[in-house]
Amino acid sequence: MKKTTIITLLLLAFATQTVFQSCTDDNDEINEFVADDSSFSGFDLFHLHATKQGIDPAMHSNGDSTAQRKIYFKDDVSPSNGRYPVGAIVVKHSTNSDGSLNQITAMVKRGNNFDTDGGDWEYFMLQPDGKIAKDPSGNLMRGAKLMDGMCQNCHTGAANKDYIFSK
Ligand code: HEC
Repeated sequence: MKKTTIITLLLLAFATQTVFQSCTDDNDEINEFVADDSSFSGFDLFHLHATKQGIDPAMHSNGDSTAQRKIYFKDDVSPSNGRYPVGAIVVKHSTNSDGSLNQITAMVKRGNNFDTDGGDWEYFMLQPDGKIAKDPSGNLMRGAKLMDGMCQNCHTGAANKDYIFSK
C-alpha cells in the first residue's frame, strides 16, 4: 500500500470516529420525550396511585360526590430531588356520577426546556382508547398551553410538587 493511501485511510478513520463521537454527545445533551399515541396505550394498566370521589376540580360540572377520578402513574414514577424524570407519564380518568366518561387528561414530562415556566410538562386530552384527542378542527389536543393555558394555570397551584397534585 502506498504511504499516501495509508495516511488517507487513517484520516478517514479518525474523521468517522469524530462524527460518531459528536452524535453520542448530542444525544446526551438532548433529553426530550415527545409522546405519541403509543405512549398512553393501556393507560388503565399503569400504576393506579389514587382514586378520588367527588366533582372533578378541573370541570366543576360532572355531578356530585359519587363522581370519580382515577390517577395513574406509568411505572409508578416519582420525583427525584423534587422533579419528575423526562418521560414521566401521568393520566387522570374522570367519570360522571352516572359512571359515564367525563374526560381523560394526561401530563408528560417532555424536558429539553420545552416550557421552562411550567416545569417542561406537556398537557394532553385523550380518547378512551388512549390516543391523543383532536379538537373539532382536527388539531391534536396537546401542548404546554393546552386550552389557552387553563390546564397549566391551575396546575401552577402544585408548582412546589412539580405541578402534580396527587403525589
Ligand atoms: C381548576 C383546576 C384544574 C384545571 C383547570 C386542570 N386541572 Fe388537572 N388536576 C387538578 C387537580 C386538583 C388534580 C388532582 C386530582 C383530582 O383531585 O382530581 C388534577 C390532576 C390532574 C392529573 C393527574 C396528576 C396530578 O396533578 O394529580 C392530570 C394528568 C391532569 N390533572 C391533567 C390536566 C389537564 C390536561 C388539564 C387541562 C385540559 C387539567 N388537568 C386542568 C386541577 C386542575
